[in-house]
Parts: sequence; C-alpha cells; structure tokens
Amino acid sequence: MKFIVVKNYKEMSRIASEIIIEDIKRKPKTVLGFATGKTPLGLYGELVKAYKKNKVDFSGIKTFNLDEYYPISKADKKSYFYYMHNNLFNKINVNPKNINLLDGETANPKKECERFESKIKQNPLDVQILGVGINGHIGFNEPYSLKNSKTRLVKLTKSTQKRNKTNKKALTMGVSTIMKAKKIILLACGKDKSKALECLMKCRPNNCCPVTLLKNHKNLVVIADKKAGDFDD
Ligand code: GLP
Repeated sequence: MKFIVVKNYKEMSRIASEIIIEDIKRKPKTVLGFATGKTPLGLYGELVKAYKKNKVDFSGIKTFNLDEYYPISKADKKSYFYYMHNNLFNKINVNPKNINLLDGETANPKKECERFESKIKQNPLDVQILGVGINGHIGFNEPYSLKNSKTRLVKLTKSTQKRNKTNKKALTMGVSTIMKAKKIILLACGKDKSKALECLMKCRPNNCCPVTLLKNHKNLVVIADKKAGDFDD
C-alpha cells in the first residue's frame, strides 16, 4: 500500500487527477471506476479543468460507478446518476455509451446487479476511485459486508442514513468487485475520516471495518489530507 499524506484537499485532488490523467495517456481505453460523495468533487473539478486545457482526452474511456441509491429516479438531485452527469460526465468528452451506472429505477434490482457485475467482468476495472465512510464503508459495503460480496442491493446503516440524509436502500459493487480493480485510489479528507484510516493502517483485514479489506490489494494508493492522514496526532 502507498499511503500519501498531503497538506490539503486541493493537493489530494490534484495528485489523484494527475495519476488518472497519466493512466489515460498510457491507455486511452482505460476503464475507470468512479465514486460519489463530497470527497471526489475536487478531483472531478481537476479532470474537467485538464480537459478544457486539452491535457486529456476521455473519448476512449469506459466508466463504472460504485453505487446508487435504490429506488431513486435519475432526475432526482440526490441520485448518483445526477451527481456524475452534473459534476463530470456533462463536462468532458466521455462517450455516453461508455458510461455504466447502476439503475436506481429498475424494477428488478437483483437482475440489475447481475447485469452490472457481468459487464464489469467483461470490462475489468483498471482504476477504481474510492472514498470512505466514517464507519469504514467502501461504496455502500457497510460493516459486516463479506469480502466475497458482489454487486447487490443493501440496507444502509442508521448512521449512513443520517449522514447521507436518506432512508433509501442502495445498489453497490461488492467488496470482491472492487478488489478486482487493477489499481485502487482511496481518497480521504477531514478529521472525521481519520479513525477509518487508522483502522486501515493498524488493524488486520476485517469486515467490521470494510476499508481494512483493501489491505489485501496489490496496488492500493491512499491519498489523504493532513486532517485524515495524521491520526497519531
Ligand atoms: C457515501 C458513498 C461512498 C462515499 C462515502 C463517503 O455514502 N456511497 O461511495 O465514498 O459515503 O462520502 P463523503 O465523501 O461525502 O464523505
């Protein structure tokens, strides 16, 4: 694991964007896994800026998103469909045909999760961006998610429901889906993430704190701002 602590949120976002841009230059057909939440917003801003300055071409990439609330309409401003289009996809030259999101409108979540999982199998993730929940969740793999879990419908914990201001369930890539990515970039910022990062660094892999399961990954890069990364302070 590479653990990089940077001075602030801006640096975290800039470094993550540089890694992704380099990956796309090396492999224009990179398959990218995106995350949502507040943490990657700065990264998406940097990617849009780089695109506007002609520093990167997204036309060959494929994208998969980690998770989506369920049920939720695509037009709902709380949906991750809306978030991704509003913050990234509508501002870069990604081919809409290459965008893959879990469908929060589906009548058959089980089938939708199977479709998504098999599409990822056909298009293995080169890079997966992750944030982390204060309880250590990754995607919506809440505590006690199994390491061999696949894309599925889950119930959110009370603390996640409160923090995300929702009472919905969610569709999420499983831990094993995430672990199959060739590279994982985990972003964390702010003091309330330091416990989860401390657990990642100090605990053995365990499913009480799902982020620790990433320790078994061969190519994990953690980029944290000072507040999240200096947990010994
Ligand atoms: C959300 C998302 C995760 C995200 C995490 C942290 O619930 N499902 O993918 O990484 O929680 O969110 P934030 O970056 O807003 O702290």
